[in-house]
Amino acid sequence: MMKKLLSAAALLASSLAMAAGPTIPLDKAPIDLTDKASLQNGAKLFQNYCLGCHQMQYQRYSRTFRDLDIPEDVGMANLMFTGEKVGDHITNNMSGKDGEKWFGATPPDLTNVARVRGPDWLYTYLRSFYADPSRPFGVNNDVFPMVGMPHVLQELQGLPYKAYETRLVDGESKQVYVGIKTDGTGELSTEEYDRAVADLVNYLEYVGEPTKLESRELGVKVMVFLLIFFVLAYLLKKEYWRDVH
Ligand code: HEC
Repeated sequence: MMKKLLSAAALLASSLAMAAGPTIPLDKAPIDLTDKASLQNGAKLFQNYCLGCHQMQYQRYSRTFRDLDIPEDVGMANLMFTGEKVGDHITNNMSGKDGEKWFGATPPDLTNVARVRGPDWLYTYLRSFYADPSRPFGVNNDVFPMVGMPHVLQELQGLPYKAYETRLVDGESKQVYVGIKTDGTGELSTEEYDRAVADLVNYLEYVGEPTKLESRELGVKVMVFLLIFFVLAYLLKKEYWRDVH
């Protein structure tokens, strides 16, 4: 009972903290749970860039492979690096203590992060890092100020910085903030980077509620069944009534 009360209180506190909200408006995440190629790319990005620090301890490799149409041997060769078994949960070997020591905060498990934060928050967060030499890893984040996480996707995006332009405001020339730009040293263009982040968020959204994918597929099958059934029933009706008319 006490435990339940405490967890309810914790939930309330965290939702209140979130109600205080991000300081900037969120971009809509262009994600699509039926896009298997996007989900596969998202899984690849997660394994390569996130798993080092974040676990997905409620998701099994086998589940990801099955739901995303990844053949087991392909998945094992490309998405599993440290000799786990397909039935294992997606975990790493970093202890929470180490995380705290290295980053000032333990990297949280990401299985449910899309349900907690929402896809738009994640999509905007991963595109809101910017250079800030006063921070331990040289970057800060507009959506999560003073974040302990380094900009792990820098090799893809390049070094992002806050861009200002001189504009005329009320007859005076002023420095106006025009958004986050990149120094162009990344492997991807801005559009490609946004797409990659969307794929990653798509995957996080799927992992947050894997059955969503299933119920959608089931829904389609049910519709197809009903359609075929309707045609058969119609033909049968015609057959029965033929002699009557
Ligand atoms: C080098 C370690 C490291 C890597 C790699 C890393 N993160 Fe993090 N991440 C952290 C730490 C540490 C925090 C906690 C930050 C804090 O509380 O200040 C964090 C926090 C987050 C949060 C905020 C969670 C919340 O709800 O508060 C998200 C989302 C996140 N990371 C996503 C990712 C994704 C996606 C990747 C892969 C692209 C990734 N991280 C890779 C260290 C890492």
